[in-house]
Amino acid sequence: MNDAMSASLNDEMMKNIDWSKLGFHYTEPDYIVRAACHEGVWEEPYATQDKYLHLHVSATCLQYGQEAFEGLKAFRGVDGKIRLFRWRENARRMAKSAEGLYMRPVPEELFGRAIRLALEKNIDFVPPYGTGATLYFRPLLIGTTPRLGVGPGRDFEFVVIPSPIGPYYPGKFHCTSFIVNRHVDRAAPFGTGQFKVGGNYAASFRATEAAHAQGYDCLFLDAKYHRYIDECSAANFIGIKECTKEQSTMYKVEYLTPLSSAILPSITNDSLMTLAKERGIKVTRRRILLEELSEMTEAAACGTACVISPIDKVVDPEQGRTYSFGSEPGPVLSELYHALRDIQFGRAEDRHGWTEVIEIKN
Ligand SMILES: Cc1ncc(COP(=O)(O)O)c(C=O)c1O
Repeated sequence: MNDAMSASLNDEMMKNIDWSKLGFHYTEPDYIVRAACHEGVWEEPYATQDKYLHLHVSATCLQYGQEAFEGLKAFRGVDGKIRLFRWRENARRMAKSAEGLYMRPVPEELFGRAIRLALEKNIDFVPPYGTGATLYFRPLLIGTTPRLGVGPGRDFEFVVIPSPIGPYYPGKFHCTSFIVNRHVDRAAPFGTGQFKVGGNYAASFRATEAAHAQGYDCLFLDAKYHRYIDECSAANFIGIKECTKEQSTMYKVEYLTPLSSAILPSITNDSLMTLAKERGIKVTRRRILLEELSEMTEAAACGTACVISPIDKVVDPEQGRTYSFGSEPGPVLSELYHALRDIQFGRAEDRHGWTEVIEIKN
């Protein structure tokens, strides 16, 4: 079957959704998947059309923020096959988040079964190849034990919420402008920044909404010194530097990304670092001073939603400085972006075993 035939067959099987108009918004799926954990024992995940949870008002997720989540995607490839991208990494990260908030981790294989079931039950929501849209999964883990005294619960609910989403930034590459905020910290050095937990996002809203009101996204600095780059809103930071002959005779360019105990270990960043190394780029993870932006030729935010969003400028109002990178994405990050997209959409060989083709039983 050629690409055009498989695309039109896909179209026929699809829901009546205008895929080109999908943004990064929630579209109600047919089913969500749930599994509860009581007394340390997980039940088998099951699909349900009921999108509401019957939750006690004193559940620890509501009272004390015992909540962690994830984000991953299924891609319809050029060959019509559906691929999940690095779901085991999401399962492992969620297990770390669970431990970070004293919750019972979801076993990796159960996480995988829940994602596959959510995919199978919502197969018509996998967008066709060529639209740039994907089926996004939002796994969620919450503490459900009723408790008024401060402390963790013993019962948990794991939910997988699928939703088709369009490209995070419709159109080709979308450049983002960032503004520095030294008055709101996203996460403390020994806090929960390394975990994907709702509290981090709630804590960042004062800064992100203030930035949006001025037409920017928020660049978070480390909470201790307010000197080093931590994260770009809800994405990791990447900078590209040219290596001088004095610095290195081996490498022409360097991929820099922050080393910080307060940032989320991005699976996209990890994948891009691997692809960069394969292309003879020096990859360095270390603390990055904000002023070092002036030495970088390219900068970007990276994450599952957008893969890479080039940064056109970073404004530091307090220091009266603006770091500019131009409105066109640079060559190094563009190449890495396309390399990763090609693997996700089955256009390039997946030499790292990052994708899992999901066979759907009829
Ligand atoms: C705070 C934060 N940092 C980084 C990322 C990027 O991580 P990933 O590439 O695994 O999506 C995300 C998105 O999940 C995020 O919310």
